[in-house]
Amino acid sequence: MRRYEIRGRKAVVTGASSGMGKELSRLLAKEGADLVLAALPREKEILESYARELSEGYGVKAYAVAVDLAEGEGRRELLDRAMALMPHVDILVNCAGLYAYGDFHELPLQQQELLVEVNSTALMSLMHLFLPGMIARRDGRILNFSSTAAFQPTANEAVYAATKAFVQSLSEAVRQEVRKYGVKVCTINPPTTRTPMMRDIPDLPFFKLVPLAEPADMAAAALAALKRGRAFHIPDARNYFVHALLPRLSARETVAVVSYVLMRDWKKRRRG
Ligand SMILES: NC(=O)c1ccc[n+]([C@@H]2O[C@H](COP(=O)([O-])OP(=O)(O)OC[C@H]3O[C@@H](n4cnc5c(N)ncnc54)[C@H](OP(=O)(O)O)[C@@H]3O)[C@@H](O)[C@H]2O)c1
Repeated sequence: MRRYEIRGRKAVVTGASSGMGKELSRLLAKEGADLVLAALPREKEILESYARELSEGYGVKAYAVAVDLAEGEGRRELLDRAMALMPHVDILVNCAGLYAYGDFHELPLQQQELLVEVNSTALMSLMHLFLPGMIARRDGRILNFSSTAAFQPTANEAVYAATKAFVQSLSEAVRQEVRKYGVKVCTINPPTTRTPMMRDIPDLPFFKLVPLAEPADMAAAALAALKRGRAFHIPDARNYFVHALLPRLSARETVAVVSYVLMRDWKKRRRG
């Protein structure tokens, strides 16, 4: 199989202002990709300064595009601006995302609706917007940030896990449809990772089983998954065993009960 070269590729990375998207953007720049970095308008200056840093540091072209992906207009604008800044797009990295921890009925509905919009609807829309260009060129890669949460229902982060199950199913299905056009859709499935997204996550029993991952390590795993063009990639054999194998061998209800127990903030419950 021929190596997938990053040098000279044109990539769009959402969620590029923070966490794993920021780390992955640096790795792509280091390997010679030109980049459109996307994040929310409130991060515009930070994003612009990061784009300058990557351009100067690695001799690539890097542009900042501040758009709200929760809005249909923002998604369309990202496509239009990317096509104005670069001749085409080889790689789309869908990394923007939101998280919420807590009981489904206690978390505000508006927060959960926004989470679905950004994690699922925006990712689906961007795939739909960018795929025609890739199909026409008979070349392209889409890397979607899914999660280990995609493989089982997860109480205490029910909506988040459901959005990632959506991402997983969509990615694996569309992958089959577009492979004949030379386009590969892949997912990276990180475990819980020490990024701003997880700033407020409590110390859960689950982290005794699988410790938190570091964003730089997950970005490196994401780059490797993108280059190999794998359908999905769960970093670390322990995570693979816990999330990909065990749920397949166990009764569905058992999986849901175990994930409820391991993801529960028991200390808080005891404090009342
Ligand atoms: N951290 C984990 O434990 C973990 C585990 C598995 C999978 N993931 C997934 O990995 C991806 C990256 O997560 P992370 O942990 O690196 O998170 P992060 O540091 O919080 O970064 C999230 C990114 O998404 C952007 N974003 C959020 N809402 C947006 C919107 N409406 N429009 C445009 N951009 C928006 C943020 O932009 P601003 O900076 O402008 O807000 C930020 O750049 C997410 O899809 C997440 O679900 C995370």
